[in-house]
Amino acid sequence: MTGKLELTIDDQKVEVVAGSSVLEAALANDISIPHLCHHPDLKPAGACRTCGVEIDGGRMAMSCQTPVAAGMKVRTSSPAVDHARRTTLELLIADHYTDCLACPLNTDCDLLKAAAHVGISRERLERMRGPSELLPVDRSNPFFEYDPNKCIVCGICVRTCDEIVGLGVLDFVNRGYRTVIGTFGNKPFIDSVCESCGECVVRCPVSALAPKQAELPAREVQTTCVYCGVGCGIYLGVKGNRVVSARGDRQRPSNQGSLCVKGRYGYRFINHPERLATPLIKNNGRFDKASWDEALDLIAKNFTANKGEQFAAFTSAKCTNEENYLLQKFTRAVMRTNTIDHCARL
Ligand code: FES
Repeated sequence: MTGKLELTIDDQKVEVVAGSSVLEAALANDISIPHLCHHPDLKPAGACRTCGVEIDGGRMAMSCQTPVAAGMKVRTSSPAVDHARRTTLELLIADHYTDCLACPLNTDCDLLKAAAHVGISRERLERMRGPSELLPVDRSNPFFEYDPNKCIVCGICVRTCDEIVGLGVLDFVNRGYRTVIGTFGNKPFIDSVCESCGECVVRCPVSALAPKQAELPAREVQTTCVYCGVGCGIYLGVKGNRVVSARGDRQRPSNQGSLCVKGRYGYRFINHPERLATPLIKNNGRFDKASWDEALDLIAKNFTANKGEQFAAFTSAKCTNEENYLLQKFTRAVMRTNTIDHCARL
C-alpha cells in the first residue's frame, strides 16, 4: 500500500505512510511507546505486550500489530493502558535476573528504558527480581554467550535467524514460565548449525545474547570489510590504536547492516602480536626477516626461472575483483600456466 494518511496520536495530528503500524507511526513522529519485541527489520510478533494503546476511545490493541487507518484516534496512555503495561513490565522484570551494573547493555537496555517510561524505580526493580533457580549460561560459542536468566523471550533472535539469516537455528524451548530460547534439541550453540554471524546478538534488547569481548570504542571508522568481494560496509570501532569492535553499515546496499562471522568478529588479527609485519625469506629451513626490496628481488628472480608448470598462483578473497583478474591474467599470459586457484573455493 502506498500514499499517506492522517491520524491523531495523543491529540497530535500526524501524517504517515499507509500500511505503517500505529507503533511505527508514533515512533516516526517522536511519540514514545515502550516496545520490546518490535524491530524495524522484522515482522511484528506481538509477543511482549508492552506496546498497548487505546484505539478510538475504547479498544486496547498492540500498536506494533495494528495498522494505521485514516482518522484513527490513538491514546498512548490511559488508566487501562498504563495499568496493563505496568503489570506486564513488572512480570517481565520479576523473571529477569541480572546484575545491571555488570551488564554490557546497562546504559542502553530496552527493558530499563521501558521500566523508566512507566515509572518503575530502580529500587522497586531490584526488589522484584530474583527467580529461585538460576539457569546455566551457554558459553559454548567462541564469540557470544546466551544467558537465559536475562532473556525476556521477545523472540527477536528467533525471527532474526529465520527472517534475515534464513537458518532458523533458534526457537522457543519449554513452556510457560520455563520458556527460553534454544537450538534444535536444545543443544549448546556450538553443536548446532549456527554460523555465528551475530545478527541475533546485535538485535537482543536486553543482552541475554551478548558478545564475549565487548569494549566500547572511542570512535568509529567507516570502511569496507576486507574478507571477500561482496564489499560489506562496516564501521570499525577504535580505542587508542586498537580495533575493538565492528558493526555493519546499514546504508551500504551490499549488506544493509548485516555481517557474517568473519566481518563481525574477525578483526582481532589487525592488532594480533603474531601478525606478520615484515616479509620472511626461508633460509636453510628457517624463516628470516627481510626487507621488501630483498623479498621482491627474490620473487622476481624465481618468477623468471620458473615459468610454466613449475609455477602456481593462489589468490585471495581479500583482494579486489580487479586484482584477482590481474593475477589470473599474469599467471596465464606471463607465467604460461593455468595453475591458478582462489581461496573462496575452499
Ligand atoms: Fe508490540 Fe511487543 S512491541 S507486543
